[in-house]
Amino acid sequence: CYFCGLYWFSNTSCSVDSQCPVQIIPRSVVVRYGDNVSADCKTSVLHEGMGWEASEGAVPMTKNQNLITWRVPELTEWDIKPLCYINSKRCNNNQCEIELPVTVFKTPDSVFISTVNHRGPMMEGQQYELQCDVHNVAPVQNLTVKWYKGQTLLKQTNFTDTIETPVNKTITLLIGPDRADDGAEYWCEAELDLGADGPQPHPTNSSKPLSIAVYYKPKHSSSTETIIQDDKVMLDCTVKANPAPMYTWDHLKEKNSSSVLKSSALSLGNYTCTATNTLGRDSKFLIFTFLLFKRMLQ
Ligand SMILES: *[C@@H]1O[C@H](CO)[C@@H](O)[C@H](O)[C@H]1NC(C)=O
Ligand SMILES: *[C@@H]1O[C@H](CO)[C@@H](O)[C@H](O)[C@H]1NC(C)=O
Repeated sequence: CYFCGLYWFSNTSCSVDSQCPVQIIPRSVVVRYGDNVSADCKTSVLHEGMGWEASEGAVPMTKNQNLITWRVPELTEWDIKPLCYINSKRCNNNQCEIELPVTVFKTPDSVFISTVNHRGPMMEGQQYELQCDVHNVAPVQNLTVKWYKGQTLLKQTNFTDTIETPVNKTITLLIGPDRADDGAEYWCEAELDLGADGPQPHPTNSSKPLSIAVYYKPKHSSSTETIIQDDKVMLDCTVKANPAPMYTWDHLKEKNSSSVLKSSALSLGNYTCTATNTLGRDSKFLIFTFLLFKRMLQ
């Protein structure tokens, strides 16, 4: 045999075969750090000995066997690379080997959401940064961090680092909350997608929800309203705002009135009310009139 160095030679002839005649079952393994793991190495050819080379669970060279098992009861190595090797019977010194790809994973110790450099209510129209801290997770190249508002997925981030040991990751999200977001709950989630051999469903760890308060100024949906005279009718200035607004009416002296006035106590005419909070104010013009006038106006 002149080409023994690189190729495996079959038992019956010395023809070149680039395939190492061992089969590893399963082909690859995904294991949680600290769990047990095993794989078989099998051959159907006659050989001078086969074995597993590995920093844990090594199997010394064995003759007269066609199946040997690599087994670790508690895997505590992040970058283990077990190799199954076999020595040729016919071609002296010809050894070939196959590596078992091992993915060791660890779900995060914690997933924590916070607001960057800010406390208390947010102001409508301004930008804020949220931060998600994922602690002690591996392997980071199979990690996806997802941002949610309520049940809506906002953004997701993957990582290209090829590091096998656990890492900490901090991911940020820029938000520009508006009035509809007052009370909204943001949260983030760390998901490990370890492929078809990995656990299903994918292991996920979620942060606690972060509930935000948004301050916004009052804004009436219409700036003018016509109210027809009727004993049951109210003049209504109520508007949503945070903090809750104070109301003033141009014909009343009080600084803080009710947002609604009973029309039975009012004479016909025009009224202006104003809703005010710490962020701003908005006025509404109310025309209190006879039915006849309304018809004439239309
Ligand atoms: C991750 O963070 C923890 C706690 O802050 C720290 O003890 C640990 O050393 C960090 N790990 C890495 C890989 O930086
Ligand atoms: C997990 O990471 C490995 C190493 O980067 C990669 O080969 C594999 O495709 C990843 N699996 C998935 C399902 O993304």
